[in-house]
This record gives sequence, C-alpha cells and structure tokens, in this order.
Amino acid sequence: NEGSLWGARFASGPSPELQALSKSTHFDWQLAPYDIAGSRAHARALSAAGYLDADELAAMLAGLDTLESRVASGEIVAAHTDEDVHGALESALIGIVGAELGGKLRAGRSRNDQIATLVRLYLKDHAANIGQLLVHLIDALASQADAHRTAIMPGRTHLQHAQPVLLAHHLLAHGWALSRDLDRLVDWTRRADVSPYGGGALAGSTLGLDAASVARDLGLAAPSENSIDGTASRDVVAEFAFVTAMIGIDLSRIAEEIILWNTREFGFVTLHDGYSTGSSIMPQKKNPDIAELARGKSGRLIGNLTGLLATLKALPLAYNRDLQEDKEPVFDSVETLEVLLPAFTGMIATLTFHTERMAALAPAGFSLATDVAEWLVKRHVPFRDAHEITGALVRHAEEHSIELDEVDDAALASISPHLTPEVREVLTVEGSVASRDGVSGTAPDRVAEQFSKLADRVRHL
Ligand code: ARG
Repeated sequence: NEGSLWGARFASGPSPELQALSKSTHFDWQLAPYDIAGSRAHARALSAAGYLDADELAAMLAGLDTLESRVASGEIVAAHTDEDVHGALESALIGIVGAELGGKLRAGRSRNDQIATLVRLYLKDHAANIGQLLVHLIDALASQADAHRTAIMPGRTHLQHAQPVLLAHHLLAHGWALSRDLDRLVDWTRRADVSPYGGGALAGSTLGLDAASVARDLGLAAPSENSIDGTASRDVVAEFAFVTAMIGIDLSRIAEEIILWNTREFGFVTLHDGYSTGSSIMPQKKNPDIAELARGKSGRLIGNLTGLLATLKALPLAYNRDLQEDKEPVFDSVETLEVLLPAFTGMIATLTFHTERMAALAPAGFSLATDVAEWLVKRHVPFRDAHEITGALVRHAEEHSIELDEVDDAALASISPHLTPEVREVLTVEGSVASRDGVSGTAPDRVAEQFSKLADRVRHL
C-alpha cells in the first residue's frame, strides 16, 4: 500500500476492479503541464509562509523543472497503479527530489482545489486557441464576401425563394453569428479567471498560504471567494461546453447550406479538390465530407454539453467524485473543434461560387413580388390592397407560366389600374437589392459598411 496517497488508513490496497474504474490518467495526463505550474506556485506560497526554506524551495523548483522536461519527453508516464495525474506527478517528483522534500508539497492543498484550478487553466488556453481559429473562419467568410460584392442570390425563408439578396450579405450573416461565439469565449474567460487553489478539500487551509499570489502566478485574476464553491462548482466547464456546442451549431448551419449548394440541383458552389472527397465505387463523386462532418460533430458537441449538465444536476456540495466526469466531454469538445475548424475554414476559403447560376435563379419563384407591393405603397396604395393586387399578379403569372416582368400591359391594367407599365422598373433583381437600403439591409452600400464593422468587432474582442 506504500506509495498510494492514503496508504496508512487502509489495511489493503485498492482492488483491481476499483483501480480500473477509478483511473483517470488516460485523459487527465494532458493536464500535467498545468499541474506542474500549480505546484510551482504552491511551492512559492509554502516558502513565503515559512514551510520551505530557500534551499528547499530552490531544490523543489529545480525538481519540478526536471519533472516537466521528463514528462514532455515521454520519459515519465503514468504507471498503471497511478489513479490520476496529481498522484502520478507527486510520486514522480518524489523520485526526483526524494521523499523528505517531495512529501512537503502536498501541505495545504488537495486534489480537489488542484483539479478545479487546472481545468480552468487548460480551458483558458484552449479558449484563446479556438478564438483564433474562429477569427480565421470569419476572415475566410469575409474574404469570400469581399470577392463577390455584386453577386446576387435567391434569399430564402422556409427554404423557399423569398427575396433576392447579395451573396456577400448572406456570407456576412454567418460571420456575424460567429463573431458572437467569439464574444462568448471572451466573456467566458472573464468568469473563468478565478483560482480555486487554496480551497483545499472544501473548507480552506490552516497554513496561512497566500492564495492571491498563487492565482497571480498562474495568470488568474483572483482566488475564489468561497472554498466550497471553488472546489465543487463546474458551471465554468458547462458554460465552455455550451459555447463549443453553439459554435458547432453555427458551423452546422453553414455546412447544411454548402451541402445543398453543392448539389446538382442547386449548382451554386464547387468544392476545391483538396477539401472534398471521392467515392470508392462511384468514380464521378465529389463529396462535401467536411461540411457533413461539421454537421455530424455538432451533435457530438451538444451531447458533451447535455451529458455534463446531467452529471451536475442535483449534485450536493462540496466535491463529489462525479465531478471527474467533467473532463472527458469538455476535452472532446476542444479536440473536436480544434481539428474541425481549420478544415472548415479551408473549405470556405477555397469554395468557388457560380454567381451566374445564383443570379439566374434569384428572380425565380416570383421573389420580386414584395418589390411590387412596396412600389404600390410608394404610390399611396394601402399595403393591405397592395398585397392583394400583387398576389393577383403572381397568380396570373403562375397560371400563364411566365415571370412577373413578362405580364403584358393589358393584363397589368386588368389586375389593377394601379399597375402601370412603370412597375417593371422594380422588376429587376439589381433594382430590388439596391432599394433595400435601410439599416441592416442587403443594398450594396449597406453591405459595404458591414465589412469594416465586422472587422472592428472581431479586432476589439
Ligand atoms: N481526479 C479527480 C477529478 O478529476 C480529482 C481527485 C479528487 N479525488 C478525491 N477523491 N477527492 O475530479
């Protein structure tokens, strides 16, 4: 039983079944660099409070440096008897600096305040990384929008043709949504910027350690105000999982459009060969696998969030071992996005848009009907009547299998005396798009303003 973290109290060591269940080193080993950073800060706090003299502190810090490089090189790995990263690294440190000194580091801390702190450090680093990946994706969308400033496409509601819009307007819509995800990450970081270190198992420490200096050492703004809350809360982890799920959902909405646009029926886009896949049997196939994987993985990101919320529900204070279940889902969400986002950005950056095809379809489905109704309103026809008149015009065109601008003068007049031939002036997609120049509208001038506004927003986050 020697070498375990709680040997003396127990007559026997853990059963193999318990060891197998309890072990977390296969996933928490990646917290090793943060664990060692925490140990450095803790050693300094112990020394400042008089529990390590200057020589001991120097030897401890040197030992932690050795430990860090041996873990990084793979020379030190978790033993099959190690339960978690904290215990494994303590044994390894003792192997380096000896039991006399190594055994002093555990004073005034618990794995409970350690793990609660380390998971924040890990997530803060990855929040910054995922934020950077999001910026690249927003840039790719904005660049495609910039390259297609005048292209017009069918805007849809209910997936039906609704009103023509600029392709750039549509692409920037996704950019704005992703900028809010970036904002969420930044805002999350503000709440995550707290150090539970010093909370001990749940009730705090008797040793007079300076928790604020530990927090500062770890790059966190302040220690927790309440040791129970610090060690037992995981809302910061759940919130992070929510933000990753929201990013997944926003990606899935872009992905679904790309999958549709890439069909023969739409014919709006062609995927770059480097960002699409073929079929093992059908030689002609070129598949949008990146978009499909994004759509699929969004389900997994949602699952990670809901699983974690279920773990937290009704969990009494303070620490319970259930809390160990926070890590695998959130690690998986991080890894999922860190591999998905670069591929997704590459797919967007290399898309070819078939703007002539989009433009040709833009007026189809009577998508200029609202322009006719608003043209009538400008001639002081009440909108209710304008809607009726335009509805009759659409029905006439549909019955005769013609477009709105093909209805002849006599037919126009028979539908309503208000429908003079001048109405054809608004029956072009360019005219329609240009006239939607109110705030947030799709008019080229309004869209042009969005580029700098979106870039500013992203830069200031
Ligand atoms: N590995 C645990 C976790 O991830 C921390 C260890 C706390 N264990 C304990 N028996 N208090 O939450």
